[in-house]
Amino acid sequence: MTTMTEPTPATRPLAVPPATGRVLTGDRPTGGLHLGHYFGTLANRVRLQQQGCELFVLVADYQVITDRDRPVDLRRLRTSMVLDYLACGIDPDASTIFAHSAVPAANQLLVPFLSLVSTGELDRNPTVKEEIRLSGRSSVSGLMLTYPVHQAADILFCKAELVPVGKDQLPHLELTRSIARRFNDRYGPVFPLPEGLLGEVGTLLGLDGRKMSKSLGNAIALADTPDQVAAKIRGARTDSERRISFEPQTRPEVANLLTLAGLCLDVEPRQVAEQVGARGAAELKRVATDAVNDLLAPIRARRAGYRPEDAVEILRRGGERAREIADATLAEVNAAMEMG
Ligand code: TRP
Repeated sequence: MTTMTEPTPATRPLAVPPATGRVLTGDRPTGGLHLGHYFGTLANRVRLQQQGCELFVLVADYQVITDRDRPVDLRRLRTSMVLDYLACGIDPDASTIFAHSAVPAANQLLVPFLSLVSTGELDRNPTVKEEIRLSGRSSVSGLMLTYPVHQAADILFCKAELVPVGKDQLPHLELTRSIARRFNDRYGPVFPLPEGLLGEVGTLLGLDGRKMSKSLGNAIALADTPDQVAAKIRGARTDSERRISFEPQTRPEVANLLTLAGLCLDVEPRQVAEQVGARGAAELKRVATDAVNDLLAPIRARRAGYRPEDAVEILRRGGERAREIADATLAEVNAAMEMG
């Protein structure tokens, strides 16, 4: 396997001073990471890796089953997500890329952790509530309510100190901190309290003004070709006013394209607006398309250097390492709890 180009640096300074120490974050492998993920968390991960943090990146395959009632092609979804990570510049030699399913000891932490949360707390989680609402389903699985506790096990088994996430994940992080605190109070000090690290955009909106999401069909995927990017941006809504200005309240569609271009170019949206001036929406779309394609060019080049078999092997190695750490933490937890 070859790395074609240097990792793409994140485009903005971190929201908090650089950390050293262990960092864990992850994503559900539901297919195709997009620019929302990139600016929300992926760019921060690469930056932390470059700063020398010990980075763990989790392919959260157990979370995929929270709202499915039939099997999904998890093997393929895992592999394609690993390829997205590698394309972004996560270096499998410097960082650990692994899947839930490779770390059974982390599942076992779920039992004591569940004893430390109340059903009221689980019911009130705003992110879970929103997911239940969006799923439109009449019944809610037990896992849907408890996956944030499973997520706490992800973060705590490796004693991560920093968790780069999007804004929607903050309730889960708060719960993780509560679990760590309560465990330590009850059984003695085992877990550090992790901090969240927000990306530069809480939510990069999709091309239709709603949250960027693969399932809403409004996302630019990291794996999109230049032509796909151009077609998607061409189809984005704008307005008929010729002079382009950055006014998120009154011109949200135009503002969103300016934000997208600005993020990719690492300039303020207003600067992009000034550059486009009176040349209208077509020019704005051209600028945004070029900006996105320039950002994606090195990502595409790196992706081309890997084969699916490489991803499988990287997951195997990462799983081994994660398993060792999880086994050690579980032994510590069991000892603290006088289990076994
Ligand atoms: N819930 C996250 C998402 O939907 C994925 C995830 C699972 C995660 N475990 C994690 C994120 C641990 C950060 C830390 O994207």
